[in-house]
Amino acid sequence: MLRIGNTILKNNLLLAPVAGHCDLPFRLAARSCGSVGLAFTDLLCPHGILKQNSQTQWLMATNPDDHPLGMQLYGQDLDLMADAARWAVDHGATLIDINMGCPVDKVTKTFAGAMMLCTPDHTLQVAERLVNTVGHQVPVTAKTRLGYHAGECTAPDLARRLIHVGIQCLTIHGRTAAQRFKGHADLTGIARVVDAVHAAGNNQIPCIGNGDIRTPFDAQQMIAATNCDGVMIARAALAAPWIFRDTQSLLTTGSIQNELTLRQRLDVIRRHFHHMLDLRDPRRALARIRQCISGYGKHLGACKTLKQAIRTLEDPTQFDPILDAFLDFKAQAADHVPVTWADRRRALAQPVAA
Ligand SMILES: Cc1cc2nc3c(=O)[nH]c(=O)nc-3n(C[C@H](O)[C@H](O)[C@H](O)COP(=O)(O)O)c2cc1C
Repeated sequence: MLRIGNTILKNNLLLAPVAGHCDLPFRLAARSCGSVGLAFTDLLCPHGILKQNSQTQWLMATNPDDHPLGMQLYGQDLDLMADAARWAVDHGATLIDINMGCPVDKVTKTFAGAMMLCTPDHTLQVAERLVNTVGHQVPVTAKTRLGYHAGECTAPDLARRLIHVGIQCLTIHGRTAAQRFKGHADLTGIARVVDAVHAAGNNQIPCIGNGDIRTPFDAQQMIAATNCDGVMIARAALAAPWIFRDTQSLLTTGSIQNELTLRQRLDVIRRHFHHMLDLRDPRRALARIRQCISGYGKHLGACKTLKQAIRTLEDPTQFDPILDAFLDFKAQAADHVPVTWADRRRALAQPVAA
């Protein structure tokens, strides 16, 4: 269980906002595996929300099975952010998260995202305005990085100040914006932010660690090394949406119980595809599943033919038969033992071939 302001989550495992990936069909597939304590929309543009831009409407789409849901806004215009937050709360947000970590130029050149680390006084005004606007209805939270420039660690100071204006939870990605996704998440840096959040919030405000959790063992290690109150997982969840279930198992029992069988993993992938067909359209569903299959493939064992078949798939009605044929083939080859998390950890520890 994790408390964020007046919201109680069933656990402390969060599915990250991942632009272009964590839409409603994916969130539903991930939630169906169990143990997603909270999921997020992609970062949302307040203009898009208020103009009811069709792409933003899609990114905000949710339904009763998609709960609890954080809606993440980016921007620095006080009025726009406040109006967009109000709209998001009226349309299903369990909490409003402010993106203070996106390093992408399109976002930072508007002084939003990670650039908010460089303008702390204005950042506090944005946070305070959102707290004053929707904070009586839902928690307002923030997600940031250790600092903007290489080697910087300004997040602890910003975190203290954000808590003083009413932010109810802080997620910290253990890299600077300058690093983007290079190097490794710095657990020592995360621990400094956790300490700052705990001290400023009298241990009532949670701090969530994020970065490079590729297996449930990494989540366990991050919690032990940083004392963070929970973890947020992004890229690893795209390839294995069941990572939350298995992390919960590891954290509560000390081992990962009953890893999903190959058939169960394929069922998750099926659900993802069928949600896309039901909620979007066949053309987009096919385009997305072609993107996703190489990630999923990392957890299916040898599956070159499956990946090839999905990448060239034109007819959505052939999706299920392709998965069925793959399962039959694996059963006949007596190769139906899927990749375990221990296997995955070993594979990740191998040096990458030059
Ligand atoms: C393709 C991509 C899109 C992302 N989109 C967002 C976003 O919309 N909002 C956000 O706060 N972080 C975003 N992130 C950052 C992730 O939420 C997360 O902080 C980062 O990937 C580190 O976590 P991981 O190592 O578990 O992937 C994105 C990351 C990637 C790779």
